[in-house]
Amino acid sequence: MGGHHEYHVALEDKLSAFFHRPKDSSIIYTTGYTANSSTLLAMLKAEDCAIVDMAVHASVYEGLYETNIKKFPHNSLIHLERALIDAQSKFLTRLVVIDGVYSQDGDLARMNEIYDLTKKYGAFLMVDDAHGIGVLGETGRGAIELFNLLDKVDLISGTLSKAFGHIGGFVIAKPEVANYLKFQSRQQVFSSTSTPAAAGLLVAIDLIDEEPEWRAKLADNVAYYKKGLLDMKLDIGNTASPIIPIKVGDAHKTGDVARLLLQAGVYTNAIVYPGVSRKDARIRTSLMATHTREHLDIVLNAFEYVNQKVRIAKTDS
Ligand SMILES: Cc1ncc(COP(=O)(O)O)c(C=O)c1O
Repeated sequence: MGGHHEYHVALEDKLSAFFHRPKDSSIIYTTGYTANSSTLLAMLKAEDCAIVDMAVHASVYEGLYETNIKKFPHNSLIHLERALIDAQSKFLTRLVVIDGVYSQDGDLARMNEIYDLTKKYGAFLMVDDAHGIGVLGETGRGAIELFNLLDKVDLISGTLSKAFGHIGGFVIAKPEVANYLKFQSRQQVFSSTSTPAAAGLLVAIDLIDEEPEWRAKLADNVAYYKKGLLDMKLDIGNTASPIIPIKVGDAHKTGDVARLLLQAGVYTNAIVYPGVSRKDARIRTSLMATHTREHLDIVLNAFEYVNQKVRIAKTDS
């Protein structure tokens, strides 16, 4: 209602330009969580339907209380197509919602196939690329750039709290949709906006273009670390990003592994139900461009030590 200052406008303009969209194609939120939840609450009502990959971030589900939901198993094109066909005659607007990079497995959406199916059945596509933007793609525009869909995805949502190193979120859409959200997104209209510290983001966004060496260093770190884990026969699933899970399975054992790693000086996330399904507990690790080889060797040695104490490597059988 008030408090939308020059630096907020400048930030929205910069985000529109960053994604090569026309001016007025973006709206900022105070978190990535609200970017998803508030946008979806404003867009989808009783006559509409969200068709969501089951592994999307919690903030997406938070935005679906006023609409109909069809969930499809993670990345399953057959189930997505079935849901699109079923929803076509029943609902006015069908919005497929996926993540670019999935936050627990670090794997990518089958975005090209999902985009094609979405359009085949007259639906819209929203991609939450919180983990991809600033990290993946030739110029750091995210998983969406990697799949050549930068100018095609209907709604892009992202966070300013990961690669950009601050706090906040945003949505990129057609200018008329972004404008609609500025009036209809309740969590944006009736909540305080970000502080002047957000002006620092204007510089952070430029750094993605000006210092591509950080992305290259991160990719090197990921390759080195993944090789180390795979040499130990640890199960890292289908990760294609700097989020690298080490799958353990049992929740109690995962807790033990996290404790042993911490004793060895390595902090990780133990991810158990409901973050993932009950038998799929894992240690989640996330790499940074500022990690050195020495840091990565400490972590790999810690996994070696833990694997001797509590076997977590896959057996050959
Ligand atoms: C995929 C995904 N989307 C959205 C968010 C929420 O972003 P924020 O932390 O800025 O609220 C997260 C987590 O932090 C996330 O992993």
